[in-house]
Amino acid sequence: MREVDGEKYYDISEICGMLHNRLSQDEIQTHFQNNKIQGIKIEDHWYATNEAIDKFEEEVIYKDIYFSELHQIDLKKILLKGRILDIGGGGEGIIGQFAGPNVISIDPSERELKEAESDCVKIIMDGKDLKFLDEAFDTVAIFFTMMYISKPDQKKVLKEAYRVLKSKGELFLWDLTIPDRPETEKDTYAVKLEVDIGKKKITTGYGTRWGKKYNLERYLDLGKKVGFNVIEQDVNGETFFIRFKKS
Ligand SMILES: C[S@@+](CC[C@H](N)C(=O)[O-])C[C@H]1O[C@@H](n2cnc3c(N)ncnc32)[C@H](O)[C@@H]1O
Repeated sequence: MREVDGEKYYDISEICGMLHNRLSQDEIQTHFQNNKIQGIKIEDHWYATNEAIDKFEEEVIYKDIYFSELHQIDLKKILLKGRILDIGGGGEGIIGQFAGPNVISIDPSERELKEAESDCVKIIMDGKDLKFLDEAFDTVAIFFTMMYISKPDQKKVLKEAYRVLKSKGELFLWDLTIPDRPETEKDTYAVKLEVDIGKKKITTGYGTRWGKKYNLERYLDLGKKVGFNVIEQDVNGETFFIRFKKS
């Protein structure tokens, strides 16, 4: 990030992360060259402001998304106990909005954390390298974050969740089974959600490229491999929920 006249400008690798790696760095470079992202060149490298990246997301990326049917998620029946860690808590920050001041929300993206309208502590941190001591939390939540993390890193994140949980602590995981690609030109798939957190219903959507083989069985298996017991699982269309417990 560079600051020019008080305005923050992000480079291609930062933009790649901000767009959840939906585009490669080369693709982003091409969008700069074709003026799809309005940017400036500093020392021969492209940079863009938050506003320009948002505009690009709105005008180019969202047009290329295949949306699922609306899925309803009811958090009212979920009890998150004690001190709660929310991994990947930027974006909508659903867990922070739901459980408020008991939540510490971490996310590697400052931009995503700032976007979240939640009343909780927010810390810039990577889920695969948590800076908390062992057994610091009663509960860990991962709400539609695993779908943005590569397969090798997903195991690291679950291992870290296990490490920072107290004995008998619980991990609540929500995510989706990415369906096979139907006949469509659109190269991103997004699940449309309406999440009931009690005081309000939040409509949102989480998107990713087709082709990732992520599903319920994969997470059940990974969770067990890092030491968790499975207490509950529930499938709702393409979305699912798993409640794991540390012995
Ligand atoms: C769909 S978004 C936000 C989901 C969020 N839980 C919510 O309630 O809206 C997924 C988030 O995962 C974050 N993320 C990606 N890689 C991560 C990692 N290694 N550790 C923690 N968060 C990560 C992204 O920065 C992004 O904010």
